[in-house]
Amino acid sequence: MTLAVILLLVFTGAVCTSAATTAHDFRYVYECYESGEVRVDILVDGDVLAYADFSRKEVVFWIPHLPESVKDLKKRAYEIAKSSIIHCRSVMSKAKKASAGAIMRQDAPDVSIYSRYEAADGVANTLFCLADNFYPPSINFTWTKNGAAVSCGVSDLRYSHNGEGTFRRISALSFTPREGDVYSCSVEHQASTRPLARSWELKESPGLSPAAGFFSVSLVLCLLGIMSGAFFFNKQPN
Ligand SMILES: *[C@@H]1O[C@H](CO)[C@@H](O)[C@H](O)[C@H]1NC(C)=O
Repeated sequence: MTLAVILLLVFTGAVCTSAATTAHDFRYVYECYESGEVRVDILVDGDVLAYADFSRKEVVFWIPHLPESVKDLKKRAYEIAKSSIIHCRSVMSKAKKASAGAIMRQDAPDVSIYSRYEAADGVANTLFCLADNFYPPSINFTWTKNGAAVSCGVSDLRYSHNGEGTFRRISALSFTPREGDVYSCSVEHQASTRPLARSWELKESPGLSPAAGFFSVSLVLCLLGIMSGAFFFNKQPN
């Protein structure tokens, strides 16, 4: 992916609202691009709930049904987001003077795959593919089953914001595991030249159960104890 823009800075500002009985954490994340493009994400309690669409002149929410109280906030949220354009301009001009050819910040995601419940043959489950600690917040997930692309039953969850300026996102796949099936999740992010893939398959038919494992470990420890006891007993001077 060739980016004609260079991302320089992210600003996080906290806006407090006293409307709710419980305090929510509202944050605006401004991304200022060298091309002049500005992107504003609105985070509520760490989740990216909305972004400012400057061409539509409004804040667009990722969730379909909004409570009335939030609708009132929409206009104000857009006004705040709009002010970031001016803010970006002034910061960019300062930044350009300070460091010509500043390097774009990029963090490749850490990817992991796991099932919602302990998997059993023929029992419906969900696979999660977690991409964590990446920046900028733009990422693609693709799922395969035995090498063939899967799109049915896939849903990408919202972006979440890690406090230190990186993002996290989960893609979920509803599936029914069968022995021998291999599922794979592949993550594309601009900070990584190759897609990052993780695979998952049903573990071989039940081997050592946790109880049996505990018993064996206890037995080994117990034997070691007896042996070292015997060793020191024999070494004791008469
Ligand atoms: C994600 O996919 C879209 C559409 O295929 C593509 O335009 C975009 O560059 C991809 N993003 C990343 C980060 O690879």
